[in-house]
Amino acid sequence: MLIKKLKTPLHGELSVPGDKSISHRAVMFSSLAQGTTEISNFLNGADCLSTISCFRKMGIEIEERLDKLYIHGKGLHGLSAPKEVLDCGNSGTTTRLISGILAGQSFSSELTGDASIQSRPMKRIMDPLESMGANICSIKANNCAPLFIQGTHLRGIHYASPIASAQVKSCVLLAGLYADMKTSVTEPYLSRNHTELMLSYFGADVTTSGTTASVEPDPALTATKIQVPGDISSAAYFIAAALMVPGSEILLKNVGINPTRDGILRVCKNMGADITQQNVRTDGCEPVADLLIRYSSLHGTVIEGAMIPTLIDEIPVIAVLAATCQGTTIIRNAEELKVKESNRLDIMVSELTRMGVDIEGTEDGMIIRGGKPLHGTAVDSRLDHRIAMSFAIAGLVADGETEILRDSCIDISYPIFYKDLLKLSV
Ligand code: S3P
Repeated sequence: MLIKKLKTPLHGELSVPGDKSISHRAVMFSSLAQGTTEISNFLNGADCLSTISCFRKMGIEIEERLDKLYIHGKGLHGLSAPKEVLDCGNSGTTTRLISGILAGQSFSSELTGDASIQSRPMKRIMDPLESMGANICSIKANNCAPLFIQGTHLRGIHYASPIASAQVKSCVLLAGLYADMKTSVTEPYLSRNHTELMLSYFGADVTTSGTTASVEPDPALTATKIQVPGDISSAAYFIAAALMVPGSEILLKNVGINPTRDGILRVCKNMGADITQQNVRTDGCEPVADLLIRYSSLHGTVIEGAMIPTLIDEIPVIAVLAATCQGTTIIRNAEELKVKESNRLDIMVSELTRMGVDIEGTEDGMIIRGGKPLHGTAVDSRLDHRIAMSFAIAGLVADGETEILRDSCIDISYPIFYKDLLKLSV
């Protein structure tokens, strides 16, 4: 796609597609519940379709009717042995969460994914699962997928996770559903808590205290209705765009504002952004609001510590935003970005440098000295959806033209991204 510098402000309103993390969990937990769950505003992105395909292969009937998904769950012990390898595509959430579920089954399974998934670290889930008694091995013995899992009886543990990762936490808690006693996970900082909220909504006994989440084994999960909120990680691109393009004013409707995900809003506020939350409400188990965003003159900030997990997927577009504002932005404690769909730290630094930004990579983040003009260029997405969309947004304020190469990866999380961008641009 070729993006040209915008000469007019962004205007209008938009409902961004459903939250990716919540869509995955809705399919997984309703498959483990007894009865039919109706899911509205499910994200039809490639990652969530991978989750659907895995559960279909384990005997779960999933129907799509009138824009809704109906999952005919078979209860905690109702999955059947897959006849084929479970393909998780590009999805880390599918791979890691499903591994927790598979560890406690009475059958064996094999999980794989694309080249990116096959190079992402899985030891982070293999270690705690093994200490629960799971049989899980990396087929190529490199601690990455493909994984072979022989389901077995599991022990409840208290896992002190070295990283704040919702994928690790959720994997262990899901295995805990099949354990002999309570399972707990303590994280260094609180990561997104959609698993805790939704499992409890389905009837599991989940408790939380500070950065510890616990689950009791063998709950009776019951089918329910799930309304998936708009994805704040998708909203982030338009939040950044409206703040950067002079004169813009947009309304993003039904955006999930769970405090474990809303770091981008807090960072933008710290930078001087004019963002108002309207119609704040709770939809099922998640807080939601409409966001009114007006162009603002921003200044640099520091992003670190407990804030990082609450905006981990938004850091690429925050780096773009920081490049356009006055002053220096420092991002620390974000080393996890190196093991996402791509090495997002290195790529943001190298590509923003090519666009003329004064940016320096550090061991665990970056330093961006904002305010220099951006120049359009060709940017390779490296097949990472968040890199592709972040540079499409950079292209709106860069001189000349910005070409996003290999951008079909946007389908992973936001298949109608360009259509929505166009809607706000005309
Ligand atoms: C996710 C958690 C985050 C995030 C990913 C989705 C989830 O990963 O980056 O896009 O749905 O649990 P980590 O938990 O590994 O940080």
